[in-house]
Amino acid sequence: MSFIETFARIEYQFRPLLAYLPADFTTKLASFGKSNFIKNFVEDIPKEETVFSKDQSVKLWDIRFNSPLFNAAGMFKIGKGYNVVAKQGAGAFLAGTTTYRSREGNIKDGVTHPFLPFPRSQAAINWMGLPNPGHEVVAKRLSQIEKVKACPVGISLSYDSVDSKEIALKNMVLGLEMYDKANVDFIEINESCPNVEGKSVSNNLEPELVERLEYISKNFISKLNRNLPVIVKLSNDTNINQVDDLVRILTDLNYSGVNFGNTSTRYNELESQIRKKEKHLFYYFYNTFGGGLSGEPLKQTSLELASKAIQSVEKISPSNEFHVIRTGGISSISDIEDSIRNGIKLNQWYTGYFKNFGRYGHQLYKKILE
Ligand SMILES: Cc1cc2nc3c(=O)[nH]c(=O)nc-3n(C[C@H](O)[C@H](O)[C@H](O)COP(=O)(O)O)c2cc1C
Repeated sequence: MSFIETFARIEYQFRPLLAYLPADFTTKLASFGKSNFIKNFVEDIPKEETVFSKDQSVKLWDIRFNSPLFNAAGMFKIGKGYNVVAKQGAGAFLAGTTTYRSREGNIKDGVTHPFLPFPRSQAAINWMGLPNPGHEVVAKRLSQIEKVKACPVGISLSYDSVDSKEIALKNMVLGLEMYDKANVDFIEINESCPNVEGKSVSNNLEPELVERLEYISKNFISKLNRNLPVIVKLSNDTNINQVDDLVRILTDLNYSGVNFGNTSTRYNELESQIRKKEKHLFYYFYNTFGGGLSGEPLKQTSLELASKAIQSVEKISPSNEFHVIRTGGISSISDIEDSIRNGIKLNQWYTGYFKNFGRYGHQLYKKILE
């Protein structure tokens, strides 16, 4: 067992005790600890490659994914860590989210990139604010990856929300072109981060979203001369009644998929899913920073939204290949089985990933999927 695996295992045992510390101190400790852990984690390449006893792979868009599960965006923000997840048996490696210009991310009350786990509730909240070194740096890094079989490379990109609409759109296309040249296998556009300044994420289908989708379709997707699926990640707070229209717009514009979804800001509605002992931490965090809730409380909505999207795709039966990805609250094989039953072939995880890494270390995909 590597040092990182041992550390994660010990931390997994002691994490629930965080609930007994003052909320502001716990937030400082968890935020600092997380950043440092990730720095070491991305370098901790497993010695042995995971080999599943039964083939777990799925082939979508003519791309082979080693398994139906891979990391959600935000875990490998600087584009390092490919060999860690490829050896673990992940379905893919998803880097980013990156923006055109580098971002420092959010700092408030002496806390850099605020993050707080709620281990008893199997949830977490973050207000990191998309810290990243920019498209160019990460594109260069991804172009240098020596890919292994069935672990494709994806990248998540977002608009620079501080820019005017015109500049943000132009720079987005420049970024997409950089990643096309870097030979990534698929692209995810993050339309749903609740933690950046400027525009807030709307949970509704709004004209500005459609305008952005049209611009990217016209200026990037229609000009592609290779197989490069572009999917759009929306919020887990999306109004389910709008899924039909959203899927119709995406398929009409030749996007290749949709991902439901990102973190939630429905603090009041989801409060009941935070355990009593951790509620004070939850109140402190969202009252001080805001932020997006992740993990178990999103399990039901991610399943409902993604399943609804599958039904929409079946109704539309688009001419281009279009798939639905589910993200939110995935942590066990029964979640993957729920997805399969509803026609969802790909899943991403973040909060559940680290819970399972604490239990199983680098063996986590094998332990979960078999
Ligand atoms: C610390 C942290 C950072 C995140 N950063 C990003 C990000 O950069 N881009 C993005 O699209 N989603 C980001 N997310 C959201 C996750 O990708 C995912 O959509 C969300 O956490 C729900 O999945 P989960 O319940 O498995 O955690 C982040 C989540 C967390 C917890």
